[in-house]
Amino acid sequence: MTSPAAPHISVLLDEVLHALRVAELPGGCFLDGTLGAGGHAAAILAAAPQARLLGLDRDPAALALAADRLAPFGERAALRHASYEQIAEIVPSWLGNAPGLDGMLLDLGLSSMQVDDAERGFAFMREGPLDMRFDSTSSEITADDIINTWDAESIADVLFRYGEERHSRRIAQAILKARPIHTTRELAGVIEHAQYGPREKIHPATRTFQALRIAVNDELGAVERVLPLALNLLRPGGRLAVISFHSLEDRIVKHTFKAEATDCICPPRQPICTCGHRARVRIITPKPIQPTDAEIAVNTRSRSARLRVAERLESKKL
Ligand SMILES: C[S@@+](CC[C@H](N)C(=O)[O-])C[C@H]1O[C@@H](n2cnc3c(N)ncnc32)[C@H](O)[C@@H]1O
Repeated sequence: MTSPAAPHISVLLDEVLHALRVAELPGGCFLDGTLGAGGHAAAILAAAPQARLLGLDRDPAALALAADRLAPFGERAALRHASYEQIAEIVPSWLGNAPGLDGMLLDLGLSSMQVDDAERGFAFMREGPLDMRFDSTSSEITADDIINTWDAESIADVLFRYGEERHSRRIAQAILKARPIHTTRELAGVIEHAQYGPREKIHPATRTFQALRIAVNDELGAVERVLPLALNLLRPGGRLAVISFHSLEDRIVKHTFKAEATDCICPPRQPICTCGHRARVRIITPKPIQPTDAEIAVNTRSRSARLRVAERLESKKL
């Protein structure tokens, strides 16, 4: 690491414990699909004295931190280097005879440690390589690959879709002209020069960096794929809590929960149901839970957080 990592402050911590009813489930089985520094996981294990927790993260550095933090809980905490997309393969054997998960948390996005580590390439204010992979041991594409090998239209498409960047085409053209670009500060400089018009509140590179990170890690695809898998693994009455940090993610969670809470999902004008779909969850948060002003005051990163919770229905209603 090139700079000391700031400790990650867990977002909406009390709200997550309450939503997952952790104190009422002292011997529960919990899954943290985005372990990070293990803050939520440690709070769950402390609040439920006989509970077991399985924690996953794509980032080996995060797992190492979490392993230290969760060491006092001994064998109650099990950690795996994996994507939450692998839960269908990993969770059943960990559950053993338990009827399913009592609660699962997905705290999406990246941690403060990842942002603060210049070598990871997530921050445009810190000079570093254009990496942006959550798992830097994987052979997946990096932001450098996108910036230096993709055509202008594909780059513009990523910036528009994942960053909602209005100047996506102009930025993409400027990137092509300036190539090769290998560092975060070089890229931020190219974007600064490509923009004109009134100054915005956010730095001109903010949306491009968000878009590249989402594309490199296929973050939206991962969220879309994991939600049905997560619901499959909950026991009846078990709950899934998802914290998202931007509207693109939150929209996926909202629409998936809505569809999973609805019996028929045929097109509205169709007179007779042919889908056979049956609701398998109840939505606990019709409106997402947001951080209080007090939380935002101590942790500005929490300001865009939205927590949505769904509960698996009893089998007889399925
Ligand atoms: C916001 S942090 C979690 C912080 C954690 N809740 C805490 O209290 O310390 C998100 C974490 O999710 C991880 N992550 C992102 N996508 C993932 C995926 N598909 N599978 C597993 N972990 C993922 C990131 O590496 C990061 O460590």
